[in-house]
Amino acid sequence: MVEFGHAFKDKYYTLLDREVTLVNHGSYGTTSTMVMDQLRKVCEEEELYPDEFYLIKSKEQYVAQINALANYIGLDHKNLALVPNATMGINTILRSIPWDFEKDSVLVHTTSYGACSNTVKFLHDYYGLKFDTTTNVYPMEDEEVLSNFEKKLATGQHKVCMFDMISSMPGVMLPYKGLIKLCKKYNVLSLIDGAHAIGMVDLKFIDELQPDFLTTNLHKWMSVPKSCALLYINPKHHDTIQTNPISWSYISEDRKNGAPYNSETVMIDKFWYLGTVSYAPMLCVEEAIKFRSEVCGGEQAIRDYQLQLREKAVRLVIEQFGPGAELLENSKGTLNVPGMFNISFPVDTRYVPVVKYLTENFHDWRNFKAKCEATMVTKDKAFAPFLVHNGKIYVRFSVFIINEASDYVKSSKMIKNRLNEALEEQYQQLFDLNSKTRKLEIK
Ligand SMILES: Cc1ncc(COP(=O)(O)O)c(C=O)c1O
Repeated sequence: MVEFGHAFKDKYYTLLDREVTLVNHGSYGTTSTMVMDQLRKVCEEEELYPDEFYLIKSKEQYVAQINALANYIGLDHKNLALVPNATMGINTILRSIPWDFEKDSVLVHTTSYGACSNTVKFLHDYYGLKFDTTTNVYPMEDEEVLSNFEKKLATGQHKVCMFDMISSMPGVMLPYKGLIKLCKKYNVLSLIDGAHAIGMVDLKFIDELQPDFLTTNLHKWMSVPKSCALLYINPKHHDTIQTNPISWSYISEDRKNGAPYNSETVMIDKFWYLGTVSYAPMLCVEEAIKFRSEVCGGEQAIRDYQLQLREKAVRLVIEQFGPGAELLENSKGTLNVPGMFNISFPVDTRYVPVVKYLTENFHDWRNFKAKCEATMVTKDKAFAPFLVHNGKIYVRFSVFIINEASDYVKSSKMIKNRLNEALEEQYQQLFDLNSKTRKLEIK
């Protein structure tokens, strides 16, 4: 049995700054030294003889990664591609659907990831693509999420529905299987942002339920170096979806009478080469799988550790934050995932109008957040992302195999101080009678 925790971190994550208390694995992932060594090896191989690497070796190595991954997660390799990240996965799909801009619409949700909903907004602003939004206010029951989506899908106005499996902020699970079924029921294409899914959630459902599109980051929870994500495309869309950027694999109308795409290899033929960039992170998938299965003892062992540590961590953060702090969860306990949890941050009554003000003034909120984050990152070296949701500040903590309970005591103490410091500063700016920058009167 592998002993996860700090000793594991010291042995397998030697590149990590020893002063950092890492409780934000969810944003960027962390890669073990063994996999980073492989990354360096591949980079050196690229440089050793670029012509040989790009012309002869890279495609073969790419195919080996796809096959290893498909085998590891139990999916048909023919529907899979590797792309640099989830944002690219979403862009790949949204920017090659042959839209009818006169009438087509995309349904998103209020908690969709900004970079991805921005892609929809870009298509709206530049080309007139319509979009609509369903509102997620947590804690929500799955039935409520589903019925809100269903109301919108039943209108028959939407061509695509883009939804998260696990949202970023707050870090909560959506009833993605039910949402895929709803999309099928109303004949709407499902575009699934599963950025946080692989490494936390079993993905076998993909071949069973056959959504239209799904992307998931391998660099977040799967221990692959940045940048690497998986893109699943349902076979019925293999011909239509093109790479982003459009590259050599595109067969234009004037070449259509030449060789068409081969249905057995179309995903590989399209996605293995998108231009001259380093493919080294993608070519480390096999090594990451080796790390997770041989060193960590497999997906279940990783998940078991996260689940039992998460339970302790929730209790410890609540203790540190003090009375009023609560885990964001619904009545059936379906919101939380193995590696993330969100705790509400209780604010002093003095700061209640500050939080309200920040919710209503986006520019000031951004400044507040950026300043507070910078202090957490640089001064304390203990950072967890936070947001205001449903009138409360929520802090999202991550739980990984390199963490122990003490990380949550240490980080939540520092985060609490920094948030209170920032709230006080904001209070002074907004309300303090002696402050030159005072903006508001207390009512
Ligand atoms: C839900 C969700 N979607 C998309 C992304 C984008 O991931 P990336 O920056 O790797 O493209 C993230 C990143 O945190 C995310 O949480």
